[in-house]
Amino acid sequence: MEAQEKDRMSLWSKLNGYSINEKGHLALHGIDLVHLAGLSDRPLYVFDELAIRENLRLYKNALKLFYPKSTSVFYASKAFLNLAMGLLLKQEEVGIDVCSEGELFIAQKAKILPQNIIMHGNNKSERELTAAVKYGIKRIIVDNFDELTLLEKVTSELKRECGILLRINPEVEVETHKYIATAVKESKFGFYRDQDRIPEYLQKVCANGYIKFKGIHFHLGSNIHKASFYEEALDKVGEYLAFLKNKGRCVEELNIGGGLGIAYEDHDSVPDIHHFVKVLCEKLILTCKMKNIDLPDLMLEPGRSIVGQAGCTLYNIGTIKEGSESVHYAAVNGGMTDNLRVALYQAKYTGVLANKMTSSVKKRPYKIVGKCCETGDILIENICLPPCAAGDVFVVFSTGAYTHSLASNYNKHPFPGIVFVREGAYDYVSREQSLEDLISLDKIPPHLLDRPEILLDKDK
Ligand SMILES: Cc1ncc(COP(=O)(O)O)c(C=O)c1O
Repeated sequence: MEAQEKDRMSLWSKLNGYSINEKGHLALHGIDLVHLAGLSDRPLYVFDELAIRENLRLYKNALKLFYPKSTSVFYASKAFLNLAMGLLLKQEEVGIDVCSEGELFIAQKAKILPQNIIMHGNNKSERELTAAVKYGIKRIIVDNFDELTLLEKVTSELKRECGILLRINPEVEVETHKYIATAVKESKFGFYRDQDRIPEYLQKVCANGYIKFKGIHFHLGSNIHKASFYEEALDKVGEYLAFLKNKGRCVEELNIGGGLGIAYEDHDSVPDIHHFVKVLCEKLILTCKMKNIDLPDLMLEPGRSIVGQAGCTLYNIGTIKEGSESVHYAAVNGGMTDNLRVALYQAKYTGVLANKMTSSVKKRPYKIVGKCCETGDILIENICLPPCAAGDVFVVFSTGAYTHSLASNYNKHPFPGIVFVREGAYDYVSREQSLEDLISLDKIPPHLLDRPEILLDKDK
């Protein structure tokens, strides 16, 4: 198919698993999305479990195919994590990258083995480092000198070994939103100007006998569409590996982070994981050859490209406001509380009316807005849809990454539920929050107890 023709296709038709059923409704692996949306009057996150598995396998298989040494995938759980996702990773024999005590807790609850967990974070607390070392995590990605000092203390006190990779900043200006570019000059992430002092410092902290230097990590940012940025980074990292070799430090492992972008709108092309991994591997092999460095074991940490396109969000349309000729408002039953990316990064999305897939009525432009008390609570600035009516089901595509994980209870809207869809079947993997959940953390100080009617149910 011609590239231009592909660009004009609706995003859903480029993603596997979607079809239009006999009722004219959009379905995912045979599950009617209008039916799913009707299970609640709140939004619903829907994940294509098969697509998540397929994406993980694409990474694993491409790494095996294109890289001659040991390789591993650590899913970046900040993109989306709950217990079911943790269990799925375990089934697929994929590791997990956690960057907080909470993510580590869920990984532990999913019984992911310590050797399959790596820990990130630019400001890890002593409590987080202690939890990681106690669990026996084999790799902590150290971000700075202070953390190295803290880890020296933690491992010495616990008398437990821990492997480390150091996060360096290769300073590559990638094309993405500035809030998710992480290897820019003066980034808050990683060793920076002081990278040359690392060998001397390592000497000192490794002397405690518990800290084991394993290698180097870098992460350029997120939603990156060109592999050439990684090639540029690998040139710089190659220099650094040669520098470390000169100082007698052998880099056994190189962790290239995540970052591969996905398709959000109809004209975006769906990224090719296989090709992306091929370019990275070939470049690394070439770099090591040119610098006369032994090939390190290779790790990747994809997040968005695993779950992003695999997710969609179902909304019901409520209010319609007929505006001027160019703007009509359609308000949905969710918004910035379940998808902050639009307000935070001016992210663009596309969607369809799942119950009007075969409509031949002339389309009109709509602004899709949420129900929060913010003018900026916009989901889609401008989209052409068949005339909308209250009760229509609006599906937004590619919402699997950084939506549930960035969700809030603003205006006290409860978190939506989450459903995993398989071939002809679906399972709730998180129920939606109840109203009681919204006050479950509250405590009532005694001086407020003069009004017994406000007592929490559980305290009665
Ligand atoms: C250190 C690190 N690794 C991996 C990722 C995952 O990136 P992405 O979801 O773009 O693949 C992130 C997210 O920004 C990150 O900070």
